[in-house]
Amino acid sequence: MAANLEDVSSIDLMTELLRRMKCSSKRDERLILVGPPGSGKGTQSPLIKDEYCLCHLATGDMLRAAVAAKTPLGVKAKEAMEKGELVSDDLVVGIIDEALNKPSCQKGFILDGFPRTVVQAQKLDEMLEKRGTKIDKVLNFAIDDAILEERITGRWIHPSSGRTYHTKFAPPKAPGVDDVTGEPLIQRKDDTAAVLKSRLEAFHRQTEPVIDYYAKKNVVTNIQAEKQPMEVSEQVHKTLSS
Ligand code: AP5
Repeated sequence: MAANLEDVSSIDLMTELLRRMKCSSKRDERLILVGPPGSGKGTQSPLIKDEYCLCHLATGDMLRAAVAAKTPLGVKAKEAMEKGELVSDDLVVGIIDEALNKPSCQKGFILDGFPRTVVQAQKLDEMLEKRGTKIDKVLNFAIDDAILEERITGRWIHPSSGRTYHTKFAPPKAPGVDDVTGEPLIQRKDDTAAVLKSRLEAFHRQTEPVIDYYAKKNVVTNIQAEKQPMEVSEQVHKTLSS
């Protein structure tokens, strides 16, 4: 439900108004970020979202919120997620279909972690066709598996904002605490070396075919995701401005 505008502070209203004015000059973009766990999709997405005025739809975050809230969706998803397996196509397709209607997705979207199977990609295409749109670009975060364990096991997250840190590569100013709010950081239950093995196996078997699916549509750009975060951002920026 929309907030009562009388209850929104003037500073928040002005900030949102300025954001919308800046966004009106940006072109619409519909993007997919695909890559194995820890490849940097969640690190780059907030930067792309702000720069290009897109909404960020991360199925992993949505599912984790549903698990935490113990909704019927969360109850169904929990077991598969803890084992590092994919949850069923029907569950995730439903949440994306609903999320695409959000006003913040008006200028386009970043899909982070979806589609993860060819069936999900086909269903997404059907959803977009009904809306008279299609995927513009797929950014393939290509990286060697050997680099991922250190990235995943060192990751810390600020749950309410989604800000991501890393003990070695992107440490917070004070250990265990979010730089902006001072709130505690958490580690994800599936961020262990053992569960990472299953997540990688699911990626290679079920998600890599999605990259081929979009390659045939000539919309895939490979991003060298093993580079430093700034260099990865530059590659993303170059791809999106072309
Ligand atoms: P999800 O939440 O989507 O997890 P994931 O795909 O495994 O991806 P991650 O969030 O782990 O990695 P990331 O690429 O975002 O890495 P990050 O930027 O944080 O999915 C979780 C689960 O939900 C799945 O296993 C499945 O069960 C279920 N699910 C979700 N979507 C589904 C779907 N569509 N269908 C079915 N099931 C679904 O970076 C990692 C760390 O590295 C961070 O600490 C970061 O600081 C650091 N880092 C980032 N970039 C760099 C860099 N360039 N150099 C050095 N360090 C870096």
